[in-house]
Amino acid sequence: MSATAAAAIAVRVARKTHEAEGVAGFRLVAVDGARLPAFAPGAHIDVVLPGGLVRQYSLCNEPAHEAQDAQDMHYEIGVLRDARSRGGSLALHDAVHEGEVLRISAPRNHFPLDESATHSLLLAGGIGVTPLLSMAQRLAALQADFALHCCSRTVARAPYRRRLEASAFAHRVFFHHDDGPAAQRMDLAATIGQPARGKHLYVCGPQGFLDAVRATARDLHWPDAQVHFEYFGGVLPVDDAQGSFEVELRSSGRVVRVPQALSVVDALAAEGIDIPVSCAQGVCGTCLTRVLAGEVAHNDLYLTPAEQAANDQFLPCCSRARSARLVLDL
Ligand code: FES
Repeated sequence: MSATAAAAIAVRVARKTHEAEGVAGFRLVAVDGARLPAFAPGAHIDVVLPGGLVRQYSLCNEPAHEAQDAQDMHYEIGVLRDARSRGGSLALHDAVHEGEVLRISAPRNHFPLDESATHSLLLAGGIGVTPLLSMAQRLAALQADFALHCCSRTVARAPYRRRLEASAFAHRVFFHHDDGPAAQRMDLAATIGQPARGKHLYVCGPQGFLDAVRATARDLHWPDAQVHFEYFGGVLPVDDAQGSFEVELRSSGRVVRVPQALSVVDALAAEGIDIPVSCAQGVCGTCLTRVLAGEVAHNDLYLTPAEQAANDQFLPCCSRARSARLVLDL
């Protein structure tokens, strides 16, 4: 099943808003008046863009309230205009207007919120605030203890700043701007602090921001299970094991060669073996596949370092092999 085929829901752009310099917000409602599927904080949808591109966007509105009221049910996404992107954000900014109909998938969630946490620390880099905005609204509704830190280059480029400042939980929101006074810059180690039982850290943003937060959390001995991250834009880390190799399917014993120029997903698809994909970038986890033998070269941002080290699963849309052959549970 391709991502496009999975995008079975027709939605209308009910409102397009300016949420920061270079950031547009889209409020999406079902075209037929039907109820949209409920979602939990951290969920994202696939959006089929003009020209057929498929991109993932996090839902940033409050899920609980929407799920209770079918009349008001809608999804909201925030999109950064990125001239370096492969066209997704530009298509939404320039070619999609209020009233237009888009096709989307049902929400999926690879970045779930642990609602039983004693404290949730949400760290956003730029447009990475979108899933955390949904989480913050949910945590506020639960009257849970949390803090949201939003980092951006300038005040004008801080997405959803006005909404956050006007929210009932504004006292839990902290803004940090690269061009602001030194005192308001985020001290990562001090902000993250020591790990504690029941304390969870959620981070979403570009690669550099993610790397910095994860490295700091590791230095502070945070357990992987309490650090949750979602990647937005930028360049995936690429392992240098990029040559050709073989994959063996455990169910049939069939062996397929993966040439240097193809991903495992594409090499298998060429042989009529389909693995579901969504992002095709090692971010969403849709193509997660069990590995029974062989050594993986992980190129994804979905698995934690501990999960990658376990070498028993991989993301075949982007990851490859260090060994001559991988045996897959397919
Ligand atoms: Fe998203 Fe492979 S399709 S991680």
